[in-house]
Order: sequence, then structure tokens, then C-alpha cells
Amino acid sequence: MKKVKVFIPATVSNVACGFDILGFPIMSFGDEMVVRKTDKKGLKITKVKGYDVPLDITKNVATVSAMKLLDDIKTDYGFEFEITKNIIPGSGIGSSGASAAGSVYAINKLLGDPFSNKELIKYAMGGEVISSVSEHADNVAPALLGGLVMVKSINPQQIINLPLLPDLFCFIINPKIQVKTSYSREILPAKIDMNLVTSQVSNFGGLIHSLHTKDYDLLKSSLKDSIVEQHRKKLIPKFDEVKEKCIELGALGCSISGSGPSIFAITKGEDLAKKIEEEVTKIYQETNIEFSTYISKISSEGVSVIDSE
Ligand code: HSE
Repeated sequence: MKKVKVFIPATVSNVACGFDILGFPIMSFGDEMVVRKTDKKGLKITKVKGYDVPLDITKNVATVSAMKLLDDIKTDYGFEFEITKNIIPGSGIGSSGASAAGSVYAINKLLGDPFSNKELIKYAMGGEVISSVSEHADNVAPALLGGLVMVKSINPQQIINLPLLPDLFCFIINPKIQVKTSYSREILPAKIDMNLVTSQVSNFGGLIHSLHTKDYDLLKSSLKDSIVEQHRKKLIPKFDEVKEKCIELGALGCSISGSGPSIFAITKGEDLAKKIEEEVTKIYQETNIEFSTYISKISSEGVSVIDSE
């Protein structure tokens, strides 16, 4: 294989009660990347389409993660990247995670799959860290593995694919304002009230149990964030109104996607996700902020090869 084109899904991370440790891909939306093997060693970004990201290989998360991978495997080739950036940087749906995951996945394919997708996570994380200034795998792991992924630990790496309930869908609204992950981490308190920790832990445990027992009611009462949402929601216009509407219409949960400003709601069934999309669109049309909405089944798919030569 000399050339590979891959699709890398956007991702919802945190998923309410799983700050930094839970995420899933949005299969209806993502970036594309073409990676070519070259005889000349080294990395080069030949083209960036869509949203602007650096061409400098030391500043682009895709090439930084690629370098981390290539530190660990000997190859006589170089690689050229053509990146189609559909996910806006700073949107809360895993833009840097997609770049970081896509490049290592593509290079691994071109080298004949020496690594498993799970093994690629640490390299992708090593790239993503330059944009978010903190090591977390809750975007890159679901992008690479697909499904609802729990990051139990990054060192040593313990990553778990959780069971999925049938018929789970997700609605996402991405207001086109930029919230840098580094900033939305900075505004989080250094110390947290013990009661909030207790409630977060109990919700996270409830969520895991609900997936194993197929208990939608328990899932609904567990999809809550006691720690982060209250601080970050100020960065998101109409967050409370959107959340209230999603819950009123019957969503199983609604919270901030990643570090924001995107908001997600989880539903049982696609029809409800569509109804929510209609109503939340009306709310956001009252602002002068541009936005996009997406609906995606929560499935076990992740990054994939679209084409190869
Ligand atoms: N878990 C991270 C955060 C996701 O919420 O800061 C951002 O990429």
C-alpha cells in the first residue's frame, strides 16, 4: 500500500459523568486524511483543506503524533499528509483528537498494521497534548476504537470498550465559537467539594451498571455531571435553555461535549434525536451565532479506511 485515505470521526468526550475518561465517536461527521508513503524520509503536510491548521510539522498534532509513532518503529519511508479538516478546532468534538488519531492510524495501515488500534492510542495522545496541554485519551481512544470507551488509566494503559444499549443516538449542536481546551481546563477549580465527587462517582458507577443491565432509567438518572459543567457552561450561549429543552423532550441526558462549546444529548431512538434537533435549532436561531447540528447512532465503529492504492 502506497497511499491511504481515512475517515476519522468527531467525538463526544466526558459524556456527562466521565470527565476525561469517557467518549464515543460521532459517525456522521469527521475529518479525512490522505497519507502517502514517500522514498524520501521525513514528514510533510502538503495540503490542508477546510479549517486552518498549521503546516509546520512540529505544530500540527497529526504530524506530532506521527513522529511519536515513528520514534518506536524503524522505517525507510517518509510520509506526506493531505488533511481535510471538517471539525473546527476548539469546537468540543475532538478536532485535535481526530488529527492525532488519523495520522497514526493511516501510517500503521501503510506499514502493514504493526500496531493494534489500542497500541496507537498512546502515540495519538502524544500528539494531542500539544493542543490541549493535558494528556487525556477520551477523544483519541473512541476515535480509534469506536463505541463507548472508558479510559480507566493512561499509564499503565487500561482502556475498556463498554457495552452499548440498542438504539442509542446522539444529537450534537456545535455553535461556531471557539473555546480552547486549555482555557476551559484553566477555569476549572483546583479543589472540589467532597459531595460533588461522591455524586460524580455514584453517577459514573450507575452509568456502567445501566449499560451492563440494559437499564435505560438508570442510564438517564446517571448521565449527569456534578463537577465540570457548572463552570464551563458560562462559555456556552443558551446552554441552560438547550439542556432544559432536551430533557423536557425526553433525552436520557444532555451536557457539554468535551471542553465545549458543543452540546450533546443522548436519546433512545433516532426520532427523538430528530425532534430535539428541530427544537434546539429554534433556540439557537434566536442567537446570531452560526451553528451546525449532527445526529449519530452510538455504534461500535471508529476510524476507517475509505480508499487505498
Ligand atoms: N476531557 C477533555 C476536557 C476533553 O474536558 O478537557 C477535551 O478535549
